[in-house]
Amino acid sequence: MKIEILTIFPGMLAGPFGESMLKRAVERGLVQIERIDLRSFARGRHRQVDDAPYGGGSGMVFKPEPLFEAVETLQQRGGDMRARVILLTPQGRTFDQEMALELSREKRLLLLCTRYEGVDERVRETLVDDEISIGDYILTGGELAAAVVVDAVVRLLPGFLEEGSLLEESHSGSLLEYPQYTRPPEFRGMAVPPVLLSGDHARIARWRREQSLRRTWRRRPDLLRRAKLTPEERLFLEKLADEQRLS
Ligand code: ADE
Repeated sequence: MKIEILTIFPGMLAGPFGESMLKRAVERGLVQIERIDLRSFARGRHRQVDDAPYGGGSGMVFKPEPLFEAVETLQQRGGDMRARVILLTPQGRTFDQEMALELSREKRLLLLCTRYEGVDERVRETLVDDEISIGDYILTGGELAAAVVVDAVVRLLPGFLEEGSLLEESHSGSLLEYPQYTRPPEFRGMAVPPVLLSGDHARIARWRREQSLRRTWRRRPDLLRRAKLTPEERLFLEKLADEQRLS
Protein backbone atom coordinates (compact mmCIF):
# COMPACT_ATOMS: atom_id res chain seq x y z
CA MET A 1 0.00 0.00 0.00
CA LYS A 2 1.07 3.53 -0.65
CA ILE A 3 -0.09 6.41 1.55
CA GLU A 4 0.62 10.01 0.61
CA ILE A 5 -0.11 12.76 3.10
CA LEU A 6 -0.44 16.31 1.89
CA THR A 7 0.21 18.86 4.63
CA ILE A 8 1.75 22.25 5.28
CA PHE A 9 3.45 20.73 8.38
CA PRO A 10 5.24 17.57 7.21
CA GLY A 11 7.35 17.70 10.37
CA MET A 12 4.27 17.03 12.49
CA LEU A 13 4.06 13.59 10.92
CA ALA A 14 7.72 12.62 11.26
CA GLY A 15 7.25 11.18 14.76
CA PRO A 16 4.38 8.72 14.41
CA PHE A 17 5.86 6.87 11.44
CA GLY A 18 9.46 6.99 12.61
CA GLU A 19 8.96 4.80 15.69
CA SER A 20 7.85 1.40 16.75
CA MET A 21 5.66 -0.86 14.66
CA LEU A 22 4.78 1.66 11.95
CA LYS A 23 8.46 2.25 11.36
CA ARG A 24 8.98 -1.49 11.01
CA ALA A 25 6.05 -1.80 8.61
CA VAL A 26 7.71 0.81 6.41
CA GLU A 27 11.09 -0.89 6.67
CA ARG A 28 9.56 -4.24 5.78
CA GLY A 29 7.91 -2.71 2.72
CA LEU A 30 4.32 -3.36 3.83
CA VAL A 31 3.53 0.29 3.30
CA GLN A 32 5.14 3.30 1.75
CA ILE A 33 4.33 6.55 3.54
CA GLU A 34 5.16 9.82 1.90
CA ARG A 35 4.72 13.24 3.49
CA ILE A 36 4.31 15.94 0.89
CA ASP A 37 4.55 19.67 1.54
CA LEU A 38 1.43 21.33 0.14
CA ARG A 39 3.31 24.61 -0.04
CA SER A 40 5.49 23.25 -2.83
CA PHE A 41 2.35 23.38 -5.01
CA ALA A 42 1.49 26.96 -4.09
CA ARG A 43 2.36 29.80 -6.43
CA GLY A 44 3.74 33.26 -5.83
CA ARG A 45 6.52 34.67 -3.75
CA HIS A 46 4.85 33.74 -0.49
CA ARG A 47 3.52 30.38 -1.62
CA GLN A 48 0.27 31.22 0.06
CA VAL A 49 -2.05 28.27 0.70
CA ASP A 50 -4.91 30.06 2.45
CA ASP A 51 -6.89 33.25 2.20
CA ALA A 52 -9.67 35.20 3.95
CA PRO A 53 -13.19 33.80 3.56
CA TYR A 54 -15.57 35.45 1.12
CA GLY A 55 -18.46 36.96 3.05
CA GLY A 56 -16.21 37.79 5.99
CA GLY A 57 -15.64 36.01 9.26
CA SER A 58 -12.63 34.92 11.26
CA GLY A 59 -9.97 32.46 10.26
CA MET A 60 -8.50 31.56 6.93
CA VAL A 61 -9.71 29.17 4.28
CA PHE A 62 -7.50 26.81 2.28
CA LYS A 63 -7.36 28.01 -1.32
CA PRO A 64 -8.40 25.60 -4.06
CA GLU A 65 -5.45 26.06 -6.45
CA PRO A 66 -2.62 24.43 -4.44
CA LEU A 67 -4.83 21.50 -3.43
CA PHE A 68 -6.07 20.88 -6.98
CA GLU A 69 -2.57 21.26 -8.37
CA ALA A 70 -1.15 18.87 -5.80
CA VAL A 71 -3.82 16.19 -6.09
CA GLU A 72 -3.80 16.26 -9.90
CA THR A 73 -0.01 16.09 -10.05
CA LEU A 74 0.12 13.22 -7.58
CA GLN A 75 -2.66 11.31 -9.36
CA GLN A 76 -0.84 11.67 -12.67
CA ARG A 77 2.40 10.54 -11.07
CA GLY A 78 0.64 7.42 -9.82
CA GLY A 79 -0.44 6.45 -13.34
CA ASP A 80 -3.06 3.70 -13.34
CA MET A 81 -3.01 3.45 -9.57
CA ARG A 82 -5.52 6.17 -8.74
CA ALA A 83 -5.45 7.18 -5.08
CA ARG A 84 -8.56 7.38 -2.95
CA VAL A 85 -8.56 11.00 -1.80
CA ILE A 86 -9.54 11.62 1.79
CA LEU A 87 -10.01 14.95 3.52
CA LEU A 88 -9.56 14.97 7.29
CA THR A 89 -12.19 17.22 8.78
CA PRO A 90 -14.45 17.38 11.83
CA GLN A 91 -17.35 17.49 9.37
CA GLY A 92 -16.56 14.05 7.97
CA ARG A 93 -17.96 10.62 8.68
CA THR A 94 -16.76 9.37 12.05
CA PHE A 95 -13.85 7.00 11.64
CA ASP A 96 -14.31 3.49 13.01
CA GLN A 97 -12.83 0.02 12.69
CA GLU A 98 -15.04 -0.84 9.74
CA MET A 99 -13.73 2.15 7.80
CA ALA A 100 -10.17 1.23 8.76
CA LEU A 101 -10.74 -2.23 7.33
CA GLU A 102 -12.25 -0.84 4.16
CA LEU A 103 -9.33 1.57 3.65
CA SER A 104 -6.79 -1.18 4.36
CA ARG A 105 -7.99 -2.88 1.16
CA GLU A 106 -7.02 0.10 -1.02
CA LYS A 107 -3.75 0.17 -2.95
CA ARG A 108 -3.24 3.89 -2.57
CA LEU A 109 -4.55 6.60 -0.25
CA LEU A 110 -4.03 10.34 -0.47
CA LEU A 111 -4.79 12.13 2.79
CA LEU A 112 -5.39 15.88 2.75
CA CYS A 113 -4.65 17.79 5.94
CA THR A 114 -5.94 21.32 6.28
CA ARG A 115 -6.48 23.65 9.20
CA TYR A 116 -9.69 23.46 11.11
CA GLU A 117 -11.19 26.72 9.87
CA GLY A 118 -11.82 25.06 6.59
CA VAL A 119 -11.21 24.50 3.00
CA ASP A 120 -12.77 26.02 -0.10
CA GLU A 121 -16.01 24.15 -0.78
CA ARG A 122 -14.97 23.39 -4.38
CA VAL A 123 -12.27 21.11 -2.99
CA ARG A 124 -14.84 19.08 -1.08
CA GLU A 125 -17.19 18.95 -4.03
CA THR A 126 -14.85 17.76 -6.75
CA LEU A 127 -11.47 16.68 -5.45
CA VAL A 128 -12.27 14.51 -2.50
CA ASP A 129 -13.70 10.96 -2.36
CA ASP A 130 -14.35 10.81 1.39
CA GLU A 131 -14.33 13.15 4.35
CA ILE A 132 -13.27 11.59 7.64
CA SER A 133 -13.47 12.86 11.20
CA ILE A 134 -11.71 10.98 13.99
CA GLY A 135 -14.18 12.16 16.60
CA ASP A 136 -16.44 14.93 17.81
CA TYR A 137 -13.77 17.40 18.86
CA ILE A 138 -11.80 20.02 17.02
CA LEU A 139 -8.09 19.60 16.42
CA THR A 140 -5.90 22.42 15.16
CA GLY A 141 -5.54 20.59 11.87
CA GLY A 142 -5.84 17.29 10.09
CA GLU A 143 -2.28 16.03 10.71
CA LEU A 144 -2.90 14.19 13.97
CA ALA A 145 -6.14 12.81 12.55
CA ALA A 146 -4.23 11.53 9.51
CA ALA A 147 -1.73 9.84 11.83
CA VAL A 148 -4.59 8.10 13.64
CA VAL A 149 -6.12 6.89 10.37
CA VAL A 150 -2.77 5.65 9.06
CA ASP A 151 -2.04 3.79 12.29
CA ALA A 152 -5.42 2.06 12.34
CA VAL A 153 -5.20 1.14 8.64
CA VAL A 154 -1.59 -0.06 8.55
CA ARG A 155 -2.00 -2.47 11.46
CA LEU A 156 -4.67 -4.23 9.41
CA LEU A 157 -2.38 -4.84 6.41
CA PRO A 158 -1.61 -8.50 5.81
CA GLY A 159 1.65 -9.42 7.52
CA PHE A 160 1.60 -6.59 10.05
CA LEU A 161 0.24 -8.42 13.08
CA GLU A 162 0.97 -11.87 14.36
CA GLU A 163 -1.14 -14.36 12.51
CA GLY A 164 -4.34 -15.01 14.39
CA SER A 165 -4.60 -11.77 16.32
CA LEU A 166 -6.77 -10.08 13.72
CA LEU A 167 -8.91 -13.18 13.53
CA GLU A 168 -9.37 -13.02 17.29
CA GLU A 169 -10.25 -9.34 17.02
CA SER A 170 -12.90 -10.02 14.38
CA HIS A 171 -14.32 -12.95 16.38
CA SER A 172 -14.83 -10.65 19.34
CA GLY A 173 -17.14 -8.66 17.05
CA SER A 174 -17.69 -5.16 18.30
CA LEU A 175 -17.41 -6.07 21.98
CA LEU A 176 -14.89 -4.51 24.33
CA GLU A 177 -11.83 -6.53 25.34
CA TYR A 178 -11.97 -8.85 28.35
CA PRO A 179 -9.60 -8.12 31.28
CA GLN A 180 -6.03 -9.32 30.80
CA TYR A 181 -3.49 -10.38 33.42
CA THR A 182 0.13 -11.39 33.41
CA ARG A 183 2.61 -12.55 36.09
CA PRO A 184 2.77 -12.37 39.08
CA PRO A 185 -0.32 -14.35 40.14
CA GLU A 186 -0.72 -12.07 43.15
CA PHE A 187 0.32 -8.44 43.34
CA ARG A 188 -0.27 -6.22 46.41
CA GLY A 189 -3.01 -8.52 47.57
CA MET A 190 -4.74 -8.54 44.16
CA ALA A 191 -5.05 -12.04 42.75
CA VAL A 192 -5.44 -13.10 39.15
CA PRO A 193 -8.88 -14.75 38.62
CA PRO A 194 -8.26 -18.48 39.30
CA VAL A 195 -9.99 -19.56 36.08
CA LEU A 196 -7.09 -18.07 34.07
CA LEU A 197 -4.63 -20.33 35.90
CA SER A 198 -6.80 -23.42 35.50
CA GLY A 199 -5.47 -24.52 32.10
CA ASP A 200 -9.07 -25.30 31.08
CA HIS A 201 -9.22 -23.56 27.71
CA ALA A 202 -12.95 -23.93 27.17
CA ARG A 203 -13.69 -22.44 30.60
CA ILE A 204 -11.23 -19.61 29.99
CA ALA A 205 -12.85 -18.81 26.64
CA ARG A 206 -16.29 -18.77 28.25
CA TRP A 207 -15.10 -16.54 31.11
CA ARG A 208 -13.49 -14.11 28.67
CA ARG A 209 -16.57 -13.86 26.52
CA GLU A 210 -18.72 -13.19 29.60
CA GLN A 211 -16.32 -10.52 30.80
CA SER A 212 -16.43 -8.87 27.36
CA LEU A 213 -20.19 -8.91 27.43
CA ARG A 214 -20.36 -7.50 30.95
CA ARG A 215 -17.87 -4.77 30.20
CA THR A 216 -19.56 -3.76 26.95
CA TRP A 217 -22.99 -3.81 28.58
CA ARG A 218 -21.76 -1.53 31.34
CA ARG A 219 -19.53 0.86 29.38
CA ARG A 220 -20.69 0.84 25.77
CA PRO A 221 -24.23 -0.56 25.53
CA ASP A 222 -24.52 1.10 22.11
CA LEU A 223 -22.07 -1.49 20.74
CA LEU A 224 -24.34 -4.38 21.70
CA ARG A 225 -26.85 -3.45 19.05
CA ARG A 226 -24.35 -4.29 16.33
CA ALA A 227 -22.73 -7.27 18.04
CA LYS A 228 -23.21 -10.80 16.73
CA LEU A 229 -24.51 -12.67 19.77
CA THR A 230 -25.81 -16.17 20.32
CA PRO A 231 -29.25 -16.66 21.96
CA GLU A 232 -27.43 -17.75 25.15
CA GLU A 233 -25.45 -14.53 25.14
CA ARG A 234 -28.62 -12.47 24.71
CA LEU A 235 -30.06 -14.33 27.67
CA PHE A 236 -26.94 -13.58 29.69
CA LEU A 237 -27.40 -9.86 28.97
CA GLU A 238 -31.03 -10.04 30.06
CA LYS A 239 -29.86 -11.64 33.27
CA LEU A 240 -27.43 -8.75 33.81
CA ALA A 241 -30.26 -6.28 33.27
CA ASP A 242 -32.47 -8.17 35.77
CA GLU A 243 -29.66 -8.20 38.32
CA GLN A 244 -29.34 -4.45 37.99
CA ARG A 245 -33.07 -3.89 38.36
CA LEU A 246 -33.04 -5.91 41.58
CA SER A 247 -29.99 -4.23 43.10
N1 ADE B 1 -9.38 18.37 11.77
C1 ADE B 1 -9.71 19.06 12.88
N2 ADE B 1 -10.41 18.32 13.73
C2 ADE B 1 -10.52 17.08 13.17
C3 ADE B 1 -11.14 15.88 13.55
N3 ADE B 1 -11.79 15.75 14.69
N4 ADE B 1 -11.07 14.83 12.71
C4 ADE B 1 -10.43 14.94 11.53
N5 ADE B 1 -9.83 16.05 11.11
C5 ADE B 1 -9.86 17.12 11.91
